[in-house]
This record gives sequence, structure tokens and C-alpha cells, in this order.
Amino acid sequence: MTTPLHETTLASKPSGDVLAIRGGRPLHGRVDVKGAKNLATKAMVATLLGETASTLRDVPDLSDVAVVRSLLEVHGVRVTEGDEPGALVFDPSDVESAHFEEIDAHAGASRIPILFCGPLLHRLGQAFIPDLGGCRIGDRPIDFHLDALRKFGAVVEKLPSGIRLSAPNGLKGANIHLPYPSVGATEQVLLTAVRAQGQTELRNAAIEPEIMDLIAVLQKMGAIISYEPNRVILIEGVETLRGYDHRSIFDRNEAASWACAALATDGEIFVGGAKQQEMLTFLNVFRKAGGWFDVREDGILFRRDGELKPVIVETDVHPGFMTDWQQPLVVALTQAPGRSVVHETVYENRMGFTAALVKMGADIVVHPHGLQDGPRRVARRDLEQAAVITGPTPLHGADIVVPDLRGGYSHVIAALTATGESKVSGVDILSRGYEKFLDKLTALGADFDVIG
Ligand code: EPZ
Repeated sequence: MTTPLHETTLASKPSGDVLAIRGGRPLHGRVDVKGAKNLATKAMVATLLGETASTLRDVPDLSDVAVVRSLLEVHGVRVTEGDEPGALVFDPSDVESAHFEEIDAHAGASRIPILFCGPLLHRLGQAFIPDLGGCRIGDRPIDFHLDALRKFGAVVEKLPSGIRLSAPNGLKGANIHLPYPSVGATEQVLLTAVRAQGQTELRNAAIEPEIMDLIAVLQKMGAIISYEPNRVILIEGVETLRGYDHRSIFDRNEAASWACAALATDGEIFVGGAKQQEMLTFLNVFRKAGGWFDVREDGILFRRDGELKPVIVETDVHPGFMTDWQQPLVVALTQAPGRSVVHETVYENRMGFTAALVKMGADIVVHPHGLQDGPRRVARRDLEQAAVITGPTPLHGADIVVPDLRGGYSHVIAALTATGESKVSGVDILSRGYEKFLDKLTALGADFDVIG
């Protein structure tokens, strides 16, 4: 039986959602983006470091947020609704050790648990981190995290079901040079160094806007953090931190996704809450690909500017073109006349989603070891992949299965761009990164039913 759309939100359905999507209808209307998943979840972990309660505002209703909330609760943090919709209050006064089994049961399919290491070591002297989940987009090792934690003085013990950490002599500031500007490892260092004894110097740090927002959160808590323009972050450890009151930075990944949906379906979408400054690189590529946008006080309006154009894009760490932006863009590029190339330089397995687009009629050739030809801005990494997209190719409906968060979004957008009906399975994974996804699709005039 078909579920009425207004009764359905992805975040409230556990798993196995299947959509029947009838495409070929441009998306029109307004969607609002809230706090960034990739800040909110980290700022929630930071509440463990404070002596008093913290308030986080604009917290998105996502399954990753629910995972972090329940992990905090398992450790004794009291989480309650705040004084406005979307605000959560975290009271860490009764933080306590949790049992392995409990932590494991609440860790879900998320990678955020690894960031509990530093705060739990400071609070409790030990931490247990279960095997990590997250999108299957590459090996996603945690060696940078563990190497950094060891430099702070943590003892890391590998167990069959995860890792156990202890800090018999406390945590001390360290000099750390990351082999790659990893977002997670930079956050790991920040969350550990703020209360470590002495100074920490972090080189080759990631400087994504969400990291800058996390630094702002930590500074509100009493941390002393400065940074230099060359990816160097300096942290002077302090003995105690207090709670914070903070409104999360907007979700620029979600904003870019809806912008690409307007581009692919030839529609017009106003993304409320989107800001230009954090999206400069995306907006440049969007414009080069034939997109038009108007930056307004309360958001950005996106649509096409005549015919689409092929582009050559390299994903990179900030301030480069984010790896999370390429999947929805690729759908639009299937409709651009000519040859586009997307070089994926951050993850080694982030082109798997293109197989479904090919099934729908797209002409995409994936080079699993990247393309050697032509000058490149980003130095080649061993794990690089490249997709060559030749368009325009009309897309037709097909039965497809969502592979991961951003790839899954691109599948839905491809189905909305295609003529005929598509059956898209496993869309519940989108609840990890897109709040009220089905409601937003409905608001934009998408023609679909929830069939499973
Ligand atoms: C964050 O992942 C985001 N996730 C990802 O968003 C995002 O794609 C990524 O940063 C890049 O911007 C969250 O914030 C929860 P990394 P993270 O550490 O921190 C390698 C989404 O869809 N690496 O910057 O896990 C790694 O394999 C998600 O919202 C190591 O080799 O990414 C990758 O090749 C998906 N060893 C590269 O670094 C390590 O110890 C970048 O990873 C850590 C990372």
C-alpha cells in the first residue's frame, strides 16, 4: 500500500525505504537548510568537555545526530529540548563510563564515535570505540587519529570489536603533522588538545568552514586556539572548559545538493539559509556548468542560465571543490553537451554511484586509477579516480539501489531528471544527511510514492 507523503519523513523510518519516482518534471520551490551535519555532530561531542551545560541551535533532525545523541546519553550526558525548535541542551555533569556492549549497540552506522576518544580520555581516563560505520566510499582508515592520540600520550589497544584507549599519565600537548589535511583527524586533535597539558601545534590541518565553526564552539567553552593561513593550528591547553551556546553553521553540502537538483531537472530552487562565503568554490563551478544564482539576504536562488556546459572538476579539501559536491553535479553534467571530467582526489571509491546513472542512459566512464593526461591543480594521490561524462544523454527510469549518502541523493535526482518511472531502493540512508528529505521533495513538486 502507498504511504501518504505527508505522513512520511525519512528520519522517522528505520530502513528499507523504496520510492517510485516519475521523472521529467523540473523541481520548483523553496527548501531550507539547517545546521551542518558535519558540525552539529562534532559540536555535540564537544559538550563532553564542558563542566556546565551546552546549547546547540539549528541541530538537524538526522540519523547521525540521533546516533551521537544516544552515545552521549549512554555516557551520562542529559539531553533535553532547548528554548526554540531545533535547539538541544547537553548537560554533562554526570558523565560516566559506559559498557562496551552499550556503546557498540548505540554507535550505529556512523564514524563520529572515533571523536569521543579525546573528550572521554579527559573525563574518564579511558575510552572504548567500537568498529566504525559510515559511507562505504573507500577504506576510511583511522591511522591519523590513532597516531595523533598516541602523541598526546594515549595508549591504544586494539580489540576484536574495536579499540580501547587509556591515558595513564594524562594527555600532554604535542607537535603533530598530518600526512593529509583530514577533516576527522583535525577535529580529533582539536577535541583532545584543548584540555591537554601544554601547547599543541597541528600542521597540515583541514580548514573546512565546519572546522572553523568547531574552533568557535571550543573558544566559547574557554579554549585558546589560533591558526595561521598555512594550515597550522595552535592550541594552548586549559584545565577546564565550560558549556557553550552556539548556532550551527548551515549545511553547505545539502545546499549544494539542492542547487544541483535545480540544474539537473532544469528547475528553480531557493535554498533558504545558504550563504555565499562558504560556497564560493561551488558557486564558481556551478556558474561554469551553466548555472545561474542570486545571492540574497536569507538564502541563494539557483537555476540554469541557458544551456548547460561541460566542466573539468577536481575534488579537494577546503578551499577546493568538496568531494561531497561531485555526485549531484555529475547528474547535471549528464545533460551538458560535451565531455566533462570529475577527478575524485579525496576518496578512492566514490564513483560507484555512476553505475546506476549509466543504467539510466548516461555515458560515464570511470577510470579507477585516475587520468594521467592534462595539467592538474591538485597533486595526484594514489587513490585517485576519474569519471568522464559525455552528454547530453537523455535519462530513462530504472530500478536502482542507493549506495551511500551523496551517491544516493544523486540517484534520486537522476530519477527525477529521467523520463518514465524509477524504483529507487534503500533511500533511508539519506536520513543520515538530508533532514525531512521526502517532505522537501514534495514541496518542490517531485512526483513520487513511497512503496516500501
Ligand atoms: C568528513 O569525513 C566528512 N564526514 C565527509 O562527509 C567528507 O566527505 C570528508 O570529511 C571530506 O570533506 C564527517 O564530517 C562526519 P577525512 P572524514 O578524514 O573526516 C583519509 C558526507 O557525506 N584518511 O577528511 O572521515 C581518508 O581515507 C561525508 O557527509 C586516512 O587515510 O574524512 C580519505 O581518503 C562522507 N587516515 C581522506 O583522508 C585517517 O586516519 C580524507 O578523509 C583519516 C583519513
